[in-house]
Amino acid sequence: MRIDPWSSTQYEDYARLRDEFGIQTYDPTGLPNPCKLIRRGAIFGHRGFELIKDAIMNRKRFVILTGLMPSGNMHIGNKMVIDQVIYYQSQGAEVFVAVADIEAYATRDISLEEAKEIAIESYILNYIALGLKPDNCEIYFQSKREAVKNLGYTLSKKVNWSEMKAIYGFEDSTNMAHVFSPLVQVGDILHVQLERYGGPRPTLVPVGVDQDPHMRLTRNLAAAFRFFSVKETADGYLGVFVKGDENVNELLDVAQGALSENGFSEFDTNYGYKALYIKDAKNEDIYKIDATLIPIELKFGGYGFYPPSSAYNMFMSGLTGGKMSSSIPESVIMLNDEPEVGAKKVKNAKTGGAISLEEQKKHGGKPEECTVYELMLYHLVEDDDELVNIFETCKSGERMCGECKNYAAQLMEDFLSNLAKKRRAARNKISEYLVWE
Ligand code: TRP
Ligand code: SF4
Repeated sequence: MRIDPWSSTQYEDYARLRDEFGIQTYDPTGLPNPCKLIRRGAIFGHRGFELIKDAIMNRKRFVILTGLMPSGNMHIGNKMVIDQVIYYQSQGAEVFVAVADIEAYATRDISLEEAKEIAIESYILNYIALGLKPDNCEIYFQSKREAVKNLGYTLSKKVNWSEMKAIYGFEDSTNMAHVFSPLVQVGDILHVQLERYGGPRPTLVPVGVDQDPHMRLTRNLAAAFRFFSVKETADGYLGVFVKGDENVNELLDVAQGALSENGFSEFDTNYGYKALYIKDAKNEDIYKIDATLIPIELKFGGYGFYPPSSAYNMFMSGLTGGKMSSSIPESVIMLNDEPEVGAKKVKNAKTGGAISLEEQKKHGGKPEECTVYELMLYHLVEDDDELVNIFETCKSGERMCGECKNYAAQLMEDFLSNLAKKRRAARNKISEYLVWE
């Protein structure tokens, strides 16, 4: 199986995806005041989230980064990522938002001018309206940020065509802008660790699993440009290995010096193997060791990237039952929908109700198959007790779909009209977020 970031497949079998692609199970235990998506299991997987958890719990610097694709208007499914961004911002993250205008140009035939218009009107105003704060937050355009494109170009040296084809399924007819755009995304994700943008620090990218190929490519390239790798050896010790052939002995010596200042004391160096074994390190020290090595790499002229972390959210079902797709307007709530239009879509949505009232009273409904419930779960009902009550009364047959839909439709109407009001207020704040280079 291959994940294609530009197809419209939904990938619903999350457990299988996790196993097949080596994605880890996301465990939010211990995160302070998790937002409702996190509390309610909407995030099903991650790569390298340990680094982010550690940063949050120990008040270290970290970045949350996302990109928006300015090809269609923002819908309620797109809201899931920005809700997470806002949560991590509240936990101290610095925020970067890439407007993927190069990708929209390369893959969706949108001009850079159109992309700018869509990004501002449909996404950025909504981000602000939804609660994104301007402090430690910048929104930039891929096409305008030299550092992003240069980094994508520079890092592309360590990926070859056959790997790109294996990841993305590119063919002879694929245009080169399309081939280049994933490397621009690599540039998005890693440029925030350049000195000018704050230096190496853990970076979380919340995405739908369709973006996992980009995350794999980026993590591979981040690692490929590291000078050191830290691994468990066959005899159970942690070893620091120098990967290239330059400055090997010096790097090993400096690493030993830095590690001995950070609580380790039993070392064994094998210059021939380009290895430094740390005999008093435990497996869970691996992150601390890596963090100690990063500043050394900077001194020796490297990037010293932390591997970027990812968190994968589930996709929302379309309101009409199948896929949520902007090409089927009834299947999706657009954030710029008129409130009454949004409410009407909810009233016409597919529920998990039984075929007759009588049946439903007897056997209950199926909230787990109900798109109205899904809206309440991810977006409309803030209070956990209320949500549990909706779930249980639906199951027990006390709650009927007609009334339930009216209730959710009203919540949607209120949400959309409130959002529209905030969007109007957001307009004169845009300049606090946008960086034009
Ligand atoms: N490819 C992403 C999409 O299709 C957009 C994107 C560009 C992005 N750069 C990014 C997402 C960096 C996350 C991080 O939606
Ligand atoms: Fe969905 Fe509500 Fe009907 Fe249950 S009662 S199936 S939650 S609409």
